[in-house]
Amino acid sequence: MIRGAVLEDLDRLVDLESRVFGDQAWSRQELRFELSALSRIYLVWEDQDAILGYGGYWSGERDAELMTIGVLPEARHRGIAGSLLARIITGADRKGLQRMNLKVRVDNPAAIDLYEKFGFSQTGLCKGYYQPEDVDAWAMTRPLSSVGPGPVGFVSNKLSEGQERIIDHE
Ligand SMILES: CC(C)(COP(=O)(O)OP(=O)(O)OC[C@H]1O[C@@H](n2cnc3c(N)ncnc32)[C@H](O)[C@@H]1OP(=O)(O)O)[C@@H](O)C(=O)NCCC(=O)NCCS
Repeated sequence: MIRGAVLEDLDRLVDLESRVFGDQAWSRQELRFELSALSRIYLVWEDQDAILGYGGYWSGERDAELMTIGVLPEARHRGIAGSLLARIITGADRKGLQRMNLKVRVDNPAAIDLYEKFGFSQTGLCKGYYQPEDVDAWAMTRPLSSVGPGPVGFVSNKLSEGQERIIDHE
């Protein structure tokens, strides 16, 4: 089930961040800020009591910025990131935002593939964006409003029946 993240999820998201991003994980303080800031909207994918994935965006006046998306290693390839991203795009679209932007490491083909599948295209290269590793990032963007959230039937193709319950976070 997808639902809006709340501050009570903090402990579980700290754990998930470290399992997904290792030494690049957000700290507890950074996560607390992300969950509390009015301009941020985060969603979690929860199965019983376990949070298997999460993602969120920053909402500006016209543009949204995808902040992060991550799924536990043992829960990957089940369509969880795709479902979260579809809901994130739909939510930003409903707010009347016009574009969603993001940055992604050039050495992350899985994420680049995911974003391209959801209509993002590369707009430029940000040299040395990720420090201290000095890894470049692709800047990617996707129009909102005119285009649907993602591949049609994406959720139902990948998830079992009981997992298709999705509630709107707004
Ligand atoms: C990238 C990530 C979020 C994908 O999560 P997921 O739940 O496994 O993704 P899904 O099952 O929803 O897959 C959706 C699409 O993403 C792409 N994708 C996912 N994993 C992929 C991989 N290992 N290689 C290539 N493409 C991949 C594919 O296009 C896939 O569609 P398909 O299955 O029809 O080919 C996950 O691998 C992850 O958490 N990685 C570490 C954190 C990270 O890099 N986050 C993104 C940057 S912040």
